[in-house]
Amino acid sequence: MSGPVISLGGSIFSKSDEKYLMEFIGKIRKVEGYALVVGGGPMARDEILRLRKLGAKEYYLDVMGIQATRLNATMVSLALGNLMEIPRSIDEAVRQMKLYEKVVMGGTEPGHTTDAVSLLLAEALDRDTVVNVTNVDHLYDRDPKLKGANKIESISYSSAIAMITSEKRAAGANFPLDILSLNIARRSNIKIKIVSFRNPSNVFRAIGGKEFEGTTVS
Ligand code: UTP
Repeated sequence: MSGPVISLGGSIFSKSDEKYLMEFIGKIRKVEGYALVVGGGPMARDEILRLRKLGAKEYYLDVMGIQATRLNATMVSLALGNLMEIPRSIDEAVRQMKLYEKVVMGGTEPGHTTDAVSLLLAEALDRDTVVNVTNVDHLYDRDPKLKGANKIESISYSSAIAMITSEKRAAGANFPLDILSLNIARRSNIKIKIVSFRNPSNVFRAIGGKEFEGTTVS
């Protein structure tokens, strides 16, 4: 199997967006092989917030977040009829890919996000594209909540990194990628396609290498 690694942002697990999750799973079922990395979504956020209030250290908040990603990944994997364990590392994921041509995983180690996992998996599997399925339809040139924000169709790694690090943009404010992911993409020249889960046929156009609506980081 070739094709992109898919990073399924955890936001699709919000109760109000359940129909999109169902539709995504229904469509991915028909895809022969896939490499899917699943985010933690509201479950990760809620549990991390609760644990932070109780004084846990950041490292353990990440450990909690990883568990949420793995639970979401388990749900998706079982829904797809897979019987494999959820891999705990990229190496394990690569082995599953070799055996079954399919892998569904969540996070791996503290200190990063599932987006970074998806880029590392793409490197390990020698894939040239990651499709980032998220809750925004494009990158915008500023916080999309601000007046006059414009969609970006394509952007270089360096410009995307500059955008994230610019002080005008609060950390994480509607920016669907982190710096580590962008750095991994840049060092291995992996294209990132950002698409909204709210347009499932568009998501699968991006996955299938066809014209799609969204932002390409390359
Ligand atoms: P997500 O990948 O869902 O992070 O992992 P996120 O950035 O909050 O979500 P998206 O990508 O914008 O939708 C949830 C949390 O789990 C921990 C981190 O704390 C992260 O915030 N995590 C996840 C890790 O520590 N390591 C991993 O490999 C993955």
